[in-house]
Amino acid sequence: TGPSKKLLSIQSHVIHGYVGNKAATFPLQYNGWDVDALNTVQFSNHPGYDSFNGYKYGSQELYDIVSRGLLNGLKIRYDVLLTGYLPCVASLNNLNEIANQMKQMNPDLKWIMDPVLGDNGRLYVPEENIPAYTEILRRNQLYLVTPNHFEMETLTGCKINSLSSLKVSFHRFHELYPKAERIVVTSIDLSVGENEVGDQNPFYLVACCDTTTTRGTGSDEIEIYFYQVPKIHAQFSGSGDLFTALLLNALLNMSSIITLSAATSQVIWTVNQILERTYKLSLAEEEQEHNDKRINNNINKKKIIKDLKLIQCKDLFNKF
Ligand code: ATP
Ligand code: MG
Ligand code: NA
Ligand code: MG
Repeated sequence: TGPSKKLLSIQSHVIHGYVGNKAATFPLQYNGWDVDALNTVQFSNHPGYDSFNGYKYGSQELYDIVSRGLLNGLKIRYDVLLTGYLPCVASLNNLNEIANQMKQMNPDLKWIMDPVLGDNGRLYVPEENIPAYTEILRRNQLYLVTPNHFEMETLTGCKINSLSSLKVSFHRFHELYPKAERIVVTSIDLSVGENEVGDQNPFYLVACCDTTTTRGTGSDEIEIYFYQVPKIHAQFSGSGDLFTALLLNALLNMSSIITLSAATSQVIWTVNQILERTYKLSLAEEEQEHNDKRINNNINKKKIIKDLKLIQCKDLFNKF
């Protein structure tokens, strides 16, 4: 085994459970990454629970830790910057400067960005974060961007409710943000809008596009790959953060040279195994807890899964 690669991951942190940095760090470390985790918030648990407590860090605090502490003080040369949930627009705007400083230490720095804006048709960050993201996307060369269905719509202004509108959104994305090299859109749900009942489609789609493959060929064509993912009738938290971390590893692991489409299908498989196992273990736990009290579960209602069973899935992380 060679030297480990250095990664700075700027994401949320929960004490209990696995979202943000808590979902990304363990699988990355397990695969040999030297992960420096900068936590943008510190919450007791993710907001999908009925209650939570905690604090957000201010933009100046976050900026100083990286700029003064890690870069100027320790002079760390990072291979990869991974960014996820940032609570406020000021800390988002600082990312441009942070990335520039990191590139001065390593011109080959690879920035993987999960443009966290919302999900299921709803924004869960301030409105002003949207133009901050579009500005970052316009200005910076990004190795990989991983929006979900809603984030892709928001960043392109294209409604996605069919295969053809999905393709249009990819072309629009490439037009608006030509510096973004690889785009992977997670959990596209085409059942919405196709019929009134909704959720009839038993699959999610994942779609990806590597724009570097046609760069310099004089062609405007981009190649888009699609994957079908069977839906589990449950709502997970942290699956997107896990997905992005595993994809980063699949693409940039020391030993591997792999296409985006191959990496994506590998990660879809692993995430699916983890979600299936999480689902089973969560059901078993609940049955244990409510032993004779039969759970009055409305079977049409999606089961809310409290947390990914990341530790119980550690055997799945050494497949790469
Ligand atoms: P988050 O909401 O955590 O930010 P995201 O919206 O960015 O996540 P997800 O929707 O969680 O991304 O998608 C990440 C991966 O997890 C995708 O491959 C997706 O298909 C899978 N996934 C998420 N929820 C389910 C589910 N209920 N059934 C099957 N696969 C799922
Ligand atoms: Mg989602
Ligand atoms: Na995502
Ligand atoms: Mg997400």
